[in-house]
Amino acid sequence: MDADATDAFDVAQLVPGFRPPPQPQPTLGHDDAQLAAADARMRHWRDPVAGPLVPGSDRHGDATCRMFRDTFNPYRPAVLDWPRLEPAVRDRIVALPIWDIAVQTEGKARLRMAAYAGTLHDPAMRDALALNAWEEQRHKDVLARMVAAYGIDLAPEPVHHPSRDPEWAYLVTGYSECIDSFFAFGLFELARRSGLFPPALVDTFEPVMQEECRHILLFANWAAWHRARLSFPRRVRFEAKVAAVWAFLAWERIGLARAIDVDGGARPQDNNFTLHGAQSVADNGVDVRDLLALCLAENDRRFAGYDERLLRPRTVPGLARLVLRVAGLFGRRR
Ligand SMILES: [Fe+2]
Ligand SMILES: [Fe+2]
Repeated sequence: MDADATDAFDVAQLVPGFRPPPQPQPTLGHDDAQLAAADARMRHWRDPVAGPLVPGSDRHGDATCRMFRDTFNPYRPAVLDWPRLEPAVRDRIVALPIWDIAVQTEGKARLRMAAYAGTLHDPAMRDALALNAWEEQRHKDVLARMVAAYGIDLAPEPVHHPSRDPEWAYLVTGYSECIDSFFAFGLFELARRSGLFPPALVDTFEPVMQEECRHILLFANWAAWHRARLSFPRRVRFEAKVAAVWAFLAWERIGLARAIDVDGGARPQDNNFTLHGAQSVADNGVDVRDLLALCLAENDRRFAGYDERLLRPRTVPGLARLVLRVAGLFGRRR
């Protein structure tokens, strides 16, 4: 198992000059007031300068990077409490088919984000993406500690190698996060409501969920900022690459969904884990429309605290709204 807390990955190896954020006070993690202040800072951010943030402008890039820096939450995985769980609850959590892919996804994300950040010339954007990679590393640490605390068995993690095209790999990871986070927001709330995740476990995981919201906010604004600054020929190439990334992600997810149907539940590399998780976290199954509506509501709630002039990821929420509208035209729920 590679997912241990002593994992030697270092963002600075790929982003020369990157320095990890300062260590929090040793008391952080035990001081409720400090924790609450860090949590509130993480969820609310507004650019004090009035006026529009034109995509691609220096001000837009600056606001994007400042948002990411200012909302950093300095929690330390080492001080997170892993609550004692009732044996039945623990067994259900251990059996969720998500832990292998979750750990591997964080491992891939940190590498791809750091590798792409290392290619950037804009110092503020490079630092923001490097910090994102560092936070993915921290997520992996959180998961490793949870896995150890509850005795979850992980499959051996494949070794991830840097891509020959760091921009492609970063786009795949960024758009994947946009898809997965949208569903994870709803599933997390579903797990809370169903009682699968007891309140203490919800509290422990909550900063990680909100961090994914910050990550896709950064990604959506980086993408808009980046594409607006490209020359026409490079812009055409970039849009073709983005289209290819979406086609790849659709193929990956549809292809895996088919494989899973045939295999009858074997999920060795389940990139649809957020979708398949729905049945696992709801006691009596869940209506797809109810789940989409919940994902949309949670998505809106998590983004509500950030400056509305920053762009939000639109594709997945837009598709969810379209599905709900079309489903509404076809009548009654089952
Ligand atoms: Fe993550
Ligand atoms: Fe992330």
